[in-house]
Formats: sequence, C-alpha cells, structure tokens
Amino acid sequence: MSSSMMRDKRYRDVPGTTLFDAEQSRRGYHLNQFCMSLMRPENRERFVADQRAYLDEWPMTEEQKQAVLDFDLNRCIALGGNIYFLSKIGATFGKSFQFMAGSMTGLSEAAYRDMMVAGGRSPDGNRIADNPDRVDDRSAPPGRASVTASIYSSHVPAMGAAMDHGKTDEPYWRPVFAGYEPTRSWLRDNTPDVILLVYNDHATAFDLSLIPTFAIGTGAHYPVADEGYGPRPVPGIDGHPALAAHIVQEVVQDDFDLTLVNEMPVDHGLTVPLSMMFGDVAQWPCAVIPFAVNVVQYPVPSGRRCLELGRAIGRAIRSYPEDLRVQVWGTGGMSHQLQGRRAGLINPEWDNAFLDRLIADPARLAESDHLEYIEEAGSEGIELVMWLIARGAMADQASDQSDAASPAPAQMPAPPRVIHRFYHVPASNTAVGHLVLQDTPTNAETASNGADQ
Ligand SMILES: [Fe+2]
Repeated sequence: MSSSMMRDKRYRDVPGTTLFDAEQSRRGYHLNQFCMSLMRPENRERFVADQRAYLDEWPMTEEQKQAVLDFDLNRCIALGGNIYFLSKIGATFGKSFQFMAGSMTGLSEAAYRDMMVAGGRSPDGNRIADNPDRVDDRSAPPGRASVTASIYSSHVPAMGAAMDHGKTDEPYWRPVFAGYEPTRSWLRDNTPDVILLVYNDHATAFDLSLIPTFAIGTGAHYPVADEGYGPRPVPGIDGHPALAAHIVQEVVQDDFDLTLVNEMPVDHGLTVPLSMMFGDVAQWPCAVIPFAVNVVQYPVPSGRRCLELGRAIGRAIRSYPEDLRVQVWGTGGMSHQLQGRRAGLINPEWDNAFLDRLIADPARLAESDHLEYIEEAGSEGIELVMWLIARGAMADQASDQSDAASPAPAQMPAPPRVIHRFYHVPASNTAVGHLVLQDTPTNAETASNGADQ
C-alpha cells in the first residue's frame, strides 16, 4: 500500500455522508460524551426538565448546543457527532431510529418508512461521481515532521521517589542520576516539539475490565495518577491531539489495531522517564503523546510486532504535514523480576547484549521470543519489547525490507548515532538501562524521500 493511498480521505466525497474518523471524533468529543450521559435515567430526567441548563454543564461549543436544542442531527454530525451517540437524544424523547433517520433526509417518519418498505434508497445517483462538491485531488500535503531521536530508559518508580523526596545526592542514588546527566544537558539543545512516549500502565488506568494491547492518547491533557502513595508532585502532560489523530489514521490503515484513549491518568511508567530526562520542572518542555502497551497480562505483543509497529509509527510521523521535531521514547526494563522465588533476578550480560543488538541489529533482536526475555531478564524484563517500538521509528528502519519499492542497500540510511549509553545495577529491584540514539539530518531526509515513493 503506498503512503498516498494510506492518507486518502476520499470517503469525504461520498455525498450526504460523514465518516466518523479521529478528526471528527476530536471535534465532537464533548458532544458525544454529553449524549453518552443520557444512558442514565437521572440524567435524562434533568435534560428533559431543562435542556439548556443541562447542556451548559458540558464544554461544548454554542453551535453544538444549538444543534442539539434544534434536534438537527445533520448539523450535529457536521460538528463531530456520531449517530450511535446522537440517537440517545432521540431515545430520551421516545423517538424511533426511523424518525431520526427520516429527519436527516427531510422525510416524515411515515414517508421514510414507506421508502424503506419500497426497497430503500438506491446508491444510483448517490455515488462519489454524483457529488457536485467532490474534490478531485485529495492527495495529502508532503510530510514535514521528522523523528529526530529515540530515547530508551528504565522507568523504575523508586527513581521518581528519590527525586520527589530529595534523595538524589545520597550515595545509593548518586551514580544513577549521574548516568542521566549527559542526556539532560543534550536535551537542553535538542528539545523536541513532541515526544511519543511508549510505556506500560501498571494496573493504574487499566484494570482487568479492559486490556488494550496498544493504546494511544489522542486527548489534550492527562493528569498524574495516584498509584496508592498519592500522585507524584510532577506536572500532568499536554498531548498533541492533531499528531496523535494522524498517527492513528496512518497506523490503523497500516493494519495495526490501536485503542484510542482520550482520558486516563498516567503512571510512573510515563512520568519517571520525563523526570529523569528533564529534572524537576514546573511544566514539561514539550507535548507528550502517551502510548501504552500491555505487558501485564499474557499474551503480550511480540518483539517483531513491536518493531513493525515502530516502523509504521515512524512512517506516520514523517508523513505529518507540519514541521515538528518528534522523539520516540521506549521505556521499561531492564532485567528485573518482581514476583515469586526468582524475585531480584538481574542479568547484566544479557542486558548489555540487548543494548548492542538494539543499536546494531534490531530486526534480529525482534526475533527473540517471550521465553528468552522471561528466562534471561526476569518476568518483568518483558517490558523491554517496548524499546523495539522506539527503535523501529528511527530512519534506518523506515523502509519495509519486503517492499520492492525500497531503496537499494547503498541508499539505505546508516544506523543512528549513539549519543549516550548507561547501565547500572540496581535501582530498587531493577537494572537501569539508558540509551540515546540520534538520527542525522541526512538520514531523516532519506527516510522521508523513501516514504514518498
Ligand atoms: Fe514498568
């Protein structure tokens, strides 16, 4: 599938039809959440009693509120509403779905029913070619965003606690924080506009009622979670809804299934790496898109799938039309086991070989199965598969090796430059690993050109 096809939004030209995509979802988020609130009888009662007052409790636009008050479903849909959600307004007033469908076509309930009994509406005369307002060229503008670097780090909660309680100068912690100093100073000159931060949720936002394998944050803001000790005294994060929606659009069409999360608290898996890289700050210096991977309940995704997903994410970022410098971070690990008789397992040889392989030959590393991670790096060492997502987003991984249109090997970008590498044992129960890989501008450019072919 070529990237121009992937970015195709020709479905917008089907007459009288609005597809509910990530962009529409973003536009209509509060409108649809308002509709959803009508699932509860007490809310329906309050809404019926005073529609305006009930609507004013929601951060919707005035246009959206007016469209609801007018029960103008076409307008609601144009403003981001989705018909399954909007139908709850009709249900509140005892209206049938046929009444609602008819209302959008200018027919009475009876006339609409008769049309359906007569066989329904024909697609003849209702195809793209019949739309006088169709746009003949919907090819996407050229991509201008780039993946400038990838950063890898353990996200041990005790490292965050050491910062929060002013213990970073204690002998136990000093070497750990010294290992992140070079990155902190490098980041001051290389602050990205956006970080896509790959981490796992630790029974915080997701309990066992819902277990998404890959979840991307498409919302505007995420608060810091209370994991039982009270929330960490660090700022919440601001997302980048437009870039996140673009990544969803591209990556799902590249056959990866993502769960979209608009609201969730973020736990130490996400906040500790930010603290390690940026220190004590009142506000993070850039937008952060959370990307959560299930590594809590088996089956967890394979390394191979994570690397391929990272490649798709890298291609998606490079096809984003705005000039953004994006870093992709992979977090978790290194070797550690938090359960049972093997608790405390540490394997420095395997960890360091993992770092070597991640830098030089991620495709082969991605072939390692779960059993190797568990046996060699401990049951929680499986978090390391997430590092392959960040590695896949780098320029040298941009081309699908099986794609005939890939550039010849001579044109392939070189592996990224190692800016910093650090390894230390222990932080609490865990081996700490940290790596910074940077793409040269030439690499990034070659990758972009490759994506356009
Ligand atoms: Fe973790």
